[in-house]
Amino acid sequence: MATSKALPVTRRYADPDSMAARLFRQAQAVMPGGNSRTTVYMAPHPPYAAEGQGCWIVDVDGDRRLDLLNNYTALIHGHAHPAITAAASARLARGSSFPLPTPEEVELASLLVERLPAVEQVRFTNSGSEAVMMAIKAARGFTGRWKIAKFEGAYHGSYDYAEVSLSSTPDNWGSLAEPASVAYSRGTPPSVLEDVVVLPFNRPELAARRIEREAGALAAVIVDPVPNRAGLMPANREFLESLRAVTAAHGILLIFDEVISFRIGYHGAQGHFGIRPDLTTLGKIIGGGFPVGAVGGSAAVMAVFDPTGGKPAVPHGGTFNANPVTMAAGLASMRLMDRVAFDRLAELGAKLRDGLTACFKDGGVAGSVTGVGSLFKVHPSDRALSDYRSSRQEPEEAARLDRIVRFLLDHGVLLSTTGLGCLSTPIGDAEIEGFLEVFARCLQEERSGA
Ligand SMILES: Cc1ncc(COP(=O)(O)O)c(C=O)c1O
Repeated sequence: MATSKALPVTRRYADPDSMAARLFRQAQAVMPGGNSRTTVYMAPHPPYAAEGQGCWIVDVDGDRRLDLLNNYTALIHGHAHPAITAAASARLARGSSFPLPTPEEVELASLLVERLPAVEQVRFTNSGSEAVMMAIKAARGFTGRWKIAKFEGAYHGSYDYAEVSLSSTPDNWGSLAEPASVAYSRGTPPSVLEDVVVLPFNRPELAARRIEREAGALAAVIVDPVPNRAGLMPANREFLESLRAVTAAHGILLIFDEVISFRIGYHGAQGHFGIRPDLTTLGKIIGGGFPVGAVGGSAAVMAVFDPTGGKPAVPHGGTFNANPVTMAAGLASMRLMDRVAFDRLAELGAKLRDGLTACFKDGGVAGSVTGVGSLFKVHPSDRALSDYRSSRQEPEEAARLDRIVRFLLDHGVLLSTTGLGCLSTPIGDAEIEGFLEVFARCLQEERSGA
């Protein structure tokens, strides 16, 4: 796929005298490591965003990149979509938050209930992490049990219980049948590790056996049907069916973490796979680009939050829950995402994944691509991928992926340092083809040792 056309070079941020370098030096004095979000750090410093329009971001040094990350999958319409900007601005002009509920929260809750088969009632939070935290508390409140089970390597936000075994390694991860509970942050209480059971992903028999052994204490099993950090390999339907059956048999709640996977279709991952979880956590796309989260589920389970009869089983406060600006932006964003829009993104996603796979093949170098719908992830190996253990990179593979992502960053494309990417509705064939050209060139240079 050789081409003689010069690629755009977007490296001004890397200059020691760049605006980004100066901002980072300033940031280091007032923020630990100059950073307020571990995910967005890159050495020696990241570019700083100035503005975004559609699928493009311009950084403070004036370089423009195709945004294939969309704030880690949150921006399904890219940047500054006119309808979302208008809805948020109009709401903002009438007040940004109140010590009272607003009509917008009822409207967005209604839309989510209509679209998600397993969601009858909803409560809003300010982030996906909080949504997961409240889902876990709801499950405990409903069942009267205290343990939760999660899958090895799966990310569910910044919450002690949800972080267990997020980055376990061959020397501490234990057997596949009984993965060890490994702390992610230093200082994690031993009681947290005792109360989180770790399960192998996409292994129905092994997971069911462990769930059955722990059933008496288990309040919930939480699963992301398309777990990004564990490789972005979609769950097998049989695996999800087995989880549904074993949890139901033992009175354990099944939580679907759809903070990212609601992106894959009009009815979310639960519609895509045809499974009805008891609780669903949401975030990202439902806020139209503003901070958001939500937990939803059957009316029977969600009743743990109901304050109408006095103190609920699980009280849930939050100064900015269901913030009306977020709700207005979220409504505008979700209304634009009709079935046609989801189908179009899924088609473009398939085209992009096929294109990347062809780049690896044509380039004669190792690499593979996972994902579904508008989501994709680049892997720097040819290994068969099925779960966290198989997709975990060796140091030299991680270094290679880092080189690929940096090449893209320096040639007009923004992708996650983990190889994750996603589409937004302003992206079309021309942008995908442009990206594939840059990607092919990257592999070509890699092969020729440039
Ligand atoms: C599956 C999943 N759950 C939960 C979260 C946490 O969401 P937030 O970053 O809004 O706290 C994320 C964030 O990426 C996620 O991917």
